[in-house]
Amino acid sequence: MTETSPLLAEIKKLIKSSGPIPVWRYMELCLMHPQHGYYLSKDPLGREGDFITAPEVSQMFGELLGLWAASVWKAIDSPPLLRLIEIGPGRGTLMADALRALRVLPPLYQALSIHLVEVNPVLRDKQKSALSGSRNITWHDTIDDVPDGPSVIFANEYFDVLPIHQAVKAENGWHERTVELDDSGKLAFGVASNPIPRFDVLLPSWVRAAPVGAVFEWRPDAEIMRIASRVRDQEGAALIIDYGHVRSDAGDTLQAIARHSFADPLENPGQADVTAHVDFQALVRATEDLGAGVHGPVPQGDFLKRLGIETRAVNLMAKATREASEDVASALKRLVGGGRSGMGQMFKVLGISEPNLTTLAGFADETPEDKAEAKTS
Ligand SMILES: C[S@@+](CC[C@H](N)C(=O)[O-])C[C@H]1O[C@@H](n2cnc3c(N)ncnc32)[C@H](O)[C@@H]1O
Repeated sequence: MTETSPLLAEIKKLIKSSGPIPVWRYMELCLMHPQHGYYLSKDPLGREGDFITAPEVSQMFGELLGLWAASVWKAIDSPPLLRLIEIGPGRGTLMADALRALRVLPPLYQALSIHLVEVNPVLRDKQKSALSGSRNITWHDTIDDVPDGPSVIFANEYFDVLPIHQAVKAENGWHERTVELDDSGKLAFGVASNPIPRFDVLLPSWVRAAPVGAVFEWRPDAEIMRIASRVRDQEGAALIIDYGHVRSDAGDTLQAIARHSFADPLENPGQADVTAHVDFQALVRATEDLGAGVHGPVPQGDFLKRLGIETRAVNLMAKATREASEDVASALKRLVGGGRSGMGQMFKVLGISEPNLTTLAGFADETPEDKAEAKTS
């Protein structure tokens, strides 16, 4: 391992002086260290960066989410103020595309107040450029700072960057997984010497039955609770979109991505995106416990098709050059398709709403009555 990362030297020093650190602390340092954290120092997105997200694949993604926000606004009786909030807005592309789509609805467009929750100063600058034509935008460090009011909240590929805990099953119980120094002084995974007290009782039966050596991951519920309690109490709805699983299960999903390839998460901390899959069942459980409405999760491909992505693609292709038309077709395939290169199955969409909103666009096929109403309005 080369000592190219300034954070590596700092983490080694920390472990030498205070002992092994839990995986969540390691991940937090990799992503959020005040000087060297991955998400505090650079723009990781795009072909030149480390990875590509759905809004960067095609304008269709943000446009359809904008129209989804319009459907929520209508469902809550078109309030005169709607806070459109995005958590972890990246380059601002999703919001810019959503706002462009919403310009066709002046009553809603006038009602919008835009709130971007972003910690990365480099990305904040990019968001300012992407949204330079829009008014009424405020940046925040946390969603807690967004003023009260009805809201639509987007979080695309945000939960996967929130630090996870990992526990490893041993004969005498589950032990917190740690990062330590091996005999040659390199970072290595280890486990805390004592088991976590009564950890088994918190786990679903099938995880409890996992073999010795199995890994279980979890994130604190704080962030999902902030989002769910806001829409429960103040009207509106949220969309959580991310890669992950719909059933809590054992498995080690901690991964690092640099330059569009998988990397060793213990190598060059702070220089790769360290993430883990999202446990959607855990998000659903926390949301239900709070009494907010839960919709889905559904595969991203199904969600986007129900919102009309195929029709939008055909419209774009009709006006495009042959080359641009091929780009639209390949973006459509990437956003809704399955397999390793497609995002349509691996990514899931979870809707959260105030309890009275029993249906949200994109989560179930429209009834014939809905279709008739859409045609006449
Ligand atoms: C994987 S990127 C996704 C960006 C964007 N949503 C997209 O789809 O292109 C994660 C985003 O979350 C931001 N972020 C990471 N940790 C955060 C935190 N604790 N609070 C707010 N934003 C955070 C990053 O700076 C970045 O904008």
